[in-house]
Amino acid sequence: MIKVMRFLFLILIGTLTFSCVNHSSEFIPLSVIAKHTNGLEYVGMNSCIECHPQIVASHLQTSHYNTSKPFRFELIEEAFIPNNNLLSFGNGDLIKFTQKERAAFQEGYLNQSENPVFKKSMDLIIGSGNKIGRSFLNWEDTSLFQLQGSHFSPLNQWINSPGYTSALSPMRPIFPRCLECHTTYARPENPSSATQNNRYVKNQIIYGIDCQRCHGEVVKHVNYQRKNRLDTVGKYITRYANFSQDQRISMCALCHSGTGQESSIKSFSFQAGDELTEFISTNYKTPSSNKLDVHANQVGLLMASMCFQKSKKMDCMTCHDPHKTERGMEVKFNNICISCHQGIKHNQNTTLKTPNLSDCISCHMPLENSKTMKLELEKENLQPVKVRSHLIGINPNLTSE
Ligand code: HEC
Ligand code: HEC
Ligand code: HEC
Ligand code: HEC
Ligand code: HEC
Ligand code: HEC
Ligand code: HEC
Repeated sequence: MIKVMRFLFLILIGTLTFSCVNHSSEFIPLSVIAKHTNGLEYVGMNSCIECHPQIVASHLQTSHYNTSKPFRFELIEEAFIPNNNLLSFGNGDLIKFTQKERAAFQEGYLNQSENPVFKKSMDLIIGSGNKIGRSFLNWEDTSLFQLQGSHFSPLNQWINSPGYTSALSPMRPIFPRCLECHTTYARPENPSSATQNNRYVKNQIIYGIDCQRCHGEVVKHVNYQRKNRLDTVGKYITRYANFSQDQRISMCALCHSGTGQESSIKSFSFQAGDELTEFISTNYKTPSSNKLDVHANQVGLLMASMCFQKSKKMDCMTCHDPHKTERGMEVKFNNICISCHQGIKHNQNTTLKTPNLSDCISCHMPLENSKTMKLELEKENLQPVKVRSHLIGINPNLTSE
């Protein structure tokens, strides 16, 4: 009997070892693709697939992951409509968008001149285009600049980049804070420089917001879990479950509480688990709702809401799964409202007839005009972008239809 048991045990061990060996031969070897100036090593997101396949697959579809990329013509091909690749300004200046052999360029013409005063290649794309659009960056050697022509997705139209005047203008340098919100990491060329500039090490930029932006150091985690396949507890990895409310919100606030003023500490030093106010001086913790703009300040607005102030543990993850695309998932969001507001009684207000209880959001988190984010869709005519207000509350002008 014991012999049989031992035999079975050996078979079991044998299969386990075999399947492990087999599996390990499919490993994508862990190679470091960039190194933070603080020593943190970044690896490719493909090293997470073997154990977190669903999260990686859904993350690849998110606006976060798609928010920056090296230029690829097929990503912007539909913008090139014959005879429509122009952006003309009030004073007669214009930008022509041209293409050659899957590369694309912006050519600037001063006051209807014959020859362009510049021709710059579109080298990087910032913005997923899922909601508003994309901007294009140009490399001049190791310096990074923003090109004046952007693309507005909803109308498939070339536009003047937000903040530029309606005339041909010099390219704007791209400082680290811009990339801090739109990439995982970008290594400065001269980290010891006292002032921030727009020079980067080109092959040390990790495009898109990937796992490591929000989960930090992963090398030890991957190595450990690969060697200890039967351990179902994640080791050597940041655990959000152990974070305080402030720590959880800080991670999102890094990019969703407005630009703020960077303190003396350099961009990209903030990591998951840190408190944002130690890195960037922002007033998101003492919000005053009338001063906040809806553009990229979901944190401040949420914190000014009664829902946040009167409940103990609310944060962004109460409603959002950061690994998923959730645009248009009204039913999901509505159910979350109802989970805290069961049996609410409307009707204290005479203007309100019977509110549609399957659409809390359109009344209490309406789309609002951004005060700072405006686009020039027609010559010298600025249109505000509509953003989802995170100030959950009662709009005095509400009436049901
Ligand atoms: C060899 C398997 C393996 C690999 C490779 C791996 N993980 Fe994990 N990871 C695990 C296991 C097992 C857990 C614990 C179960 C769970 O939470 O899914 C875990 C948990 C986690 C957690 C949750 C920690 C917590 O408890 O809050 C994060 C975050 C995480 N991994 C990130 C990553 C990232 C990012 C990568 C790629 C760089 C990666 N993992 C690669 C096996 C792995
Ligand atoms: C403080 C963080 C932050 C900074 C700095 C920042 N952005 Fe953004 N950006 C965001 C967020 C967040 C959004 C999503 C819109 C929102 O939430 O209001 C966004 C949206 C965009 C979009 C539109 C994407 C879409 O939805 O289609 C573009 C394009 C863009 N940013 C370009 C830039 C460029 C170029 C810079 C630097 C010159 C920059 N941003 C600086 C956080 C930032
Ligand atoms: C925008 C930030 C962000 C990015 C990017 C991100 N995560 Fe997460 N992740 C979080 C947060 C926040 C939590 C904690 C969720 C909670 O506690 O409600 C989490 C939780 C997890 C967990 C444990 C809980 C679960 O959902 O299973 C795993 C595993 C994980 N992430 C893996 C990954 C992997 C792998 C990637 C890259 C493909 C990734 N994450 C990218 C923010 C992020
Ligand atoms: C490194 C900066 C960064 C961090 C950290 C970050 N975000 Fe974002 N987030 C962005 C940018 C940039 C966009 C707009 C991307 C685009 O469309 O180009 C965005 C978009 C979003 C969107 C809209 C998605 C869509 O489908 O359009 C949601 C929701 C969101 N973020 C939630 C979160 C939450 C929750 C956290 C914290 C766990 C978080 N973000 C952390 C930069 C960040
Ligand atoms: C984590 C629980 C929680 C969630 C989720 C939640 N709320 Fe609240 N909300 C509260 C609490 C607590 C209050 C304050 C006490 C009260 O009025 O019931 C509140 C207050 C409100 C108020 C009154 C605001 C005011 O200024 O007087 C409105 C309106 C509201 N919530 C709507 C919503 C909507 C819509 C959603 C979904 C998008 C939502 N809430 C999600 C907990 C929550
Ligand atoms: C009470 C639920 C709730 C909470 C909490 C919440 N959100 Fe949202 N969020 C929503 C809803 C609903 C939408 C609209 C989704 C859509 O357009 O389909 C949204 C949309 C967004 C968008 C897209 C903005 C736009 O204008 O299209 C971003 C970015 C975002 N949330 C970030 C955050 C961040 C960061 C936090 C934490 C500070 C947060 N959210 C907390 C419910 C919530
Ligand atoms: C047609 C617009 C509309 C819709 C849809 C709507 N509300 Fe309201 N809600 C209002 C108005 C207006 C008030 C203030 C007057 C009142 O209390 O009747 C209000 C008040 C509230 C309050 C504060 C009053 C209280 O009882 O504490 C809460 C909480 C609330 N709504 C939650 C929700 C939730 C949750 C949903 C979705 C299930 C929802 N509302 C759907 C317009 C709406």
